[in-house]
Order: sequence, then structure tokens, then C-alpha cells
Amino acid sequence: MEVYALKGNICYSLDKDELSIHENSYVICENGVCAGVYPDLPEDYRGIACTDYGSRLIIPGFTDLHVHAPQYAFRGLGMDLELLEWLEGHAFVEEQRYSDLNYAKRAYEIFTEDLVKSATTRACIFGTVHTEATLLLMELLEKAGFKACVGRVNMDRNCPEGLCETDALKAAQDTERWIARCQEFQQVKPILTPRFIPACSDELMRRLSELQKRYGLPVQSHLSENQAEIAWVMELCPETACYGAAYDGYGMFGKGSPAIMAHCVHSGEEEIGLMKGRKLFVAHCPESNANLSSGIAPVRTFLDEGIKVGLGSDIAAGSGLSVFRAMALAVQCSKLKWRIEDGNLKPLKFSEVFYMATRGGGEFFGNVGCFEKGYEFDALVINDTDLRSPGELTVRKRLERLMYLAEDKHIAAKYICGRKIF
Ligand code: GUN
Ligand code: FE
Repeated sequence: MEVYALKGNICYSLDKDELSIHENSYVICENGVCAGVYPDLPEDYRGIACTDYGSRLIIPGFTDLHVHAPQYAFRGLGMDLELLEWLEGHAFVEEQRYSDLNYAKRAYEIFTEDLVKSATTRACIFGTVHTEATLLLMELLEKAGFKACVGRVNMDRNCPEGLCETDALKAAQDTERWIARCQEFQQVKPILTPRFIPACSDELMRRLSELQKRYGLPVQSHLSENQAEIAWVMELCPETACYGAAYDGYGMFGKGSPAIMAHCVHSGEEEIGLMKGRKLFVAHCPESNANLSSGIAPVRTFLDEGIKVGLGSDIAAGSGLSVFRAMALAVQCSKLKWRIEDGNLKPLKFSEVFYMATRGGGEFFGNVGCFEKGYEFDALVINDTDLRSPGELTVRKRLERLMYLAEDKHIAAKYICGRKIF
């Protein structure tokens, strides 16, 4: 049994509105699970190993609920287009390169190394249609100590030859074989990944839905990101009441297994109604939505309706892996939406975006994203001493400014499920 304590200024979300702050306290990890936060080490834990991080901040690790690993190679490039043209001109072009395992290895090593240095401890990741490259990505993440869900992408229409699974039956069989080979991983799990409705035929969706039921897998996809995309879905599925209903028709909208839907920028009343009360997680990706001129998701409405929301970097429509940056952009974009679009949608607060980055997205993985007893022990130790200030700041203020100021260099240590990553 491995038991240890970290000492420092400990902060986590109690709920969307309230932070729990424990100065100079101990957080205890017992076999990878949090055993609580205490001002002094309780009698039962006297003598356990303790790392004293002094005045540093200790916070839960972040969940990136939506990121495309193969697109990391062209991050920061090609942002002058909207979604459909960007997919064709950039994303699909790059993703075809992952049929070459040597290229995939170089690219996924870079992605994994940078993810290790970041504030992310959990991630839901898109690979490509290539089984071998996707397994390689999973192996690298597992070796690095990550907890992640990774998807071999499915797509069988409206995409270039190099990525198109022309036979839906074969696509499902290939996916099933990939699922079987994922058994070798302990921490990295498969997630079904139909790319989005325009790239998935009815037959493919039906076959994936069978696999989902057979293996009880979660699903990740894209939803209502861009106006032209939505219009296209309505053309392709004339019977469907809204975009979300097209997934729901195949049981892929958080009814049985959990589902992550990225973006939801233009989700209307009907779609939001479908999301309610489901195991449906909105992955809010504010940087991506700005870069591809998609718009600003109605996050305030999602929160008011009790819909689960986490944050996503959406590499490479988003340019970087930082979930701190996603928090700041979520706040900034919500202010623009309130000012320009709808005065009823109050801007997001720091406590709300911190919640989304930790407990909100973390819930997808179970008890993840805080230091309450029984939560899996994912922690970041932050050294902010180089962020100079003429007077002393409260712990709460130090945490709040990190949303705008944190860089990877401020992460002094990182733990995932109790294991020290660095
Ligand atoms: N919709 C379908 N595929 C993608 C993708 O790779 N990125 C984004 N942002 N949206 C998508
Ligand atoms: Fe995406």
C-alpha cells in the first residue's frame, strides 16, 4: 500500500460557485486515491512520506475533453478558413500522413512529450482512421502515465480517399479488432469515434452503434459547430429534428454510455432539450470556435440547464494544449457573447471555468477533478514565484491570475492517479 502526503496551499472546486482553499495543509494519497485534506496530519497517517511544497499551490489536474493528436503537427497554421474548408485543406491532408508509422511515431512522440509538460492529466483524444498509428499513440500515452480515452476515427463519406473507409462492414470489423487490441492497456481506453455526421454514412453509424452496445463503450464526436456544417447535416438527414437527434437515433447521445459532443456552438432549444438529464458532456472549445469563426457556445445556458460541460483544446483548430488558456478564453468569449449577442447570458466566472477544467470534464472519468475523499489523485503543483507582485496576494488571487498567466514552466510537479509524472 502506498501512502503519502503533499503539503502546500491546496485549492479545488466544491461546486461551480465555490472554491475550497486550505492554506499550509496536507492532501493525502492512498493507493492512487485521495484520502482527504487536513490542516495537520491525522494520527493514522503520522510518519508517512510527505513532500513539503512550501507556499506552492496544489490543485487538481485538468481534463482536456477534446483534442486531435494527429493535428498537433500543424498547430498554429491554416487559421484563415472556416470549418469545412479547413478540414479539407488542412486536417484531412495532415491526417493522411498517419498511414506512415514512422511519421506517426515522430508526431505522436512530440504530442505526448508536450502533453506531459502541460497541466493536463486526463484527455479524450481523436487519433485517425489508422489502427496501427492509433495503437502507437495509446502505447506512448500509457508509457507516459496518462489516463486517457483514445479513438480510432471512423469516416466513410465526404472525405479524401486516403482517409475514407469505403466499406462500412469492414470499417466496423477493423474497429472491433482495434477494440480487442486495446485490452493490452491499463490506463488508456478506447472510445468510439464517428468523426461527425457528414463523414459517417447511416450504415456506418448503425454498425458502430452495435459495437457500442456490445462493448459498452463511450462515444466522442462533433456537434453543431458551424452553420454550413449544420445545413449539410440537415440535407444529409432530412428526417432529423436537429443535429443531435442524428446521433441520438443511434443511441450515441449519452443515453446508455456516456458521450462527449465537441463544440455545440449553435445548439438550439430542441437540441439542448435532448442533452438534458443524459450522460452527455459538452466539450467547450472556445479557442477553436474563435479561430474557425464558428461562434460562441451558449455555455451559460448549458450550466443553467444542468448539462455537463468540460473544456477542450481542440488541437489544431485550437493552437495550444493549455487548459489554463481554454479557461481564460471561455471567460473572455462569454463576455463578448453577453455584450454583443444576448444580454441575458451572464459572463462565466473564474470559479465556473475552474470547475469545468477540473470536476466538469473530470466527471467523464468518474471521481476525478477534486481532492475530496475517494477522488482519484491527479494533482498539479504550481510554482508562481516568478510572477512578481509588490504585495502579498491571497491564495485565491494567486490561483485566479494563473488562468491568464500560467505557462508550462510554472508546473513544478504533476501526479496522475497517485503516480508522480515529474
Ligand atoms: N468536425 C469534424 N472533424 C473535425 C475536426 O477535426 N476538428 C474540428 N474542429 N471539427 C471537426
Ligand atoms: Fe474537434
